[in-house]
Amino acid sequence: MSDANTSAAGFPPAFTFEPNAAPAAPDARASLIEDPGFGRVFTDHMATIRYSEARGWHDARIVARGPLSFDPATAVLHYAQEIFEGLKAYRLDDGGIALFRPEQNARRFRDSARRMAMAELPEELFLQSCRELVLRERDWIPGGEGGALYLRPFMVASEVFLGVKPASEYLYAVLASSVGAYWKGGARAVSLWVSHDYTRAGAGGTGAAKCGGNYAASLVAQAEAVRRGCDQVVFLDAVERRWIEELGGMNIFFVMADGSLVTPALTGTILPGITRASIIQLARDEGLTVREEAYSIDQWRSDAESGALAESFACGTAAVVTPIGKVAGPDYGFRIGDGGTGPVTARILARLSAIQRGRAPDPHGWLTRIA
Ligand code: PLP
Ligand code: COI
Repeated sequence: MSDANTSAAGFPPAFTFEPNAAPAAPDARASLIEDPGFGRVFTDHMATIRYSEARGWHDARIVARGPLSFDPATAVLHYAQEIFEGLKAYRLDDGGIALFRPEQNARRFRDSARRMAMAELPEELFLQSCRELVLRERDWIPGGEGGALYLRPFMVASEVFLGVKPASEYLYAVLASSVGAYWKGGARAVSLWVSHDYTRAGAGGTGAAKCGGNYAASLVAQAEAVRRGCDQVVFLDAVERRWIEELGGMNIFFVMADGSLVTPALTGTILPGITRASIIQLARDEGLTVREEAYSIDQWRSDAESGALAESFACGTAAVVTPIGKVAGPDYGFRIGDGGTGPVTARILARLSAIQRGRAPDPHGWLTRIA
């Protein structure tokens, strides 16, 4: 059973569609997406494309979501040649559907592939795979505040070979997941544990790539954060263990009492977040000063204690804009502002969300309307 791709205007390769023979019934779907949380509710289909050195990109499909089967000697299972992306599709008030800056994810996916010596998926094919999947799965976009369809494009080295070298075959796929709030219990200020023992990335490493290995390396520190009673870990630089880098899955901003913003510069060890870039732009549009520069843990603590720092927040596609209420390390702890959501954080969250949901003018053309 397959029908030809109809919306791709002839861009090769066309996505064949093999419908899920047992899709979720409408009432089951409705109850699944009522309060989906993050990353547990998946739609009926996924997009897949294969790559081989001999054939290039081929075999583009939308198929029933289901297990992938791999030979035990498949390269990714041993050497972790894997990358991924995260972006959201929003339902607009007029019933349309839009993706937020998907071309930025397409470009970062290529950048990540290059760093991991993987085949580079053409950006138009990345965009087409997202578009095709969302159009098939539009009924899975939850209503309600914070509801969206989270897309998870990823790629793995699928060559069956135990030699240590860049693979010659890859599988690219896109999953779609109905999501609501990222944090259990909804939006609230989170607490951070500053890891002085573990780092996430070093100069020349893979910190700026969105590869699974970065997240694997962060988990022991994240687990420690939870053990210490905190929500998330924040990493320091690998050389001096002084400069704040980012969280396990979010960038970080500091709001000074004078209204200016500071965020760590992109020096190659942190992920160049698309939410980060958007917030810098929105803040500058408002006339705020934004400095991309190193900011140390000691400075953060003394600025929070003196009142020179008013707010701090974390940001990313999944968590959007999340206020930081408390910070703790091995022998210290401090509160940010009154420990809740500050006014600048609240305003940036509101402005960004309004653009993402088509409720405010989109001066930079960040929304890509697909329906
Ligand atoms: N930093 C890390 C390590 C991430 O995993 C993410 C999430 O994607 C971000 C930052 C934020 O990036 P973006 O705003 O593009 O989602
Ligand atoms: C995202 O925000 O899209 C992320 O990838 C963060 C996390 C879920 C890994």
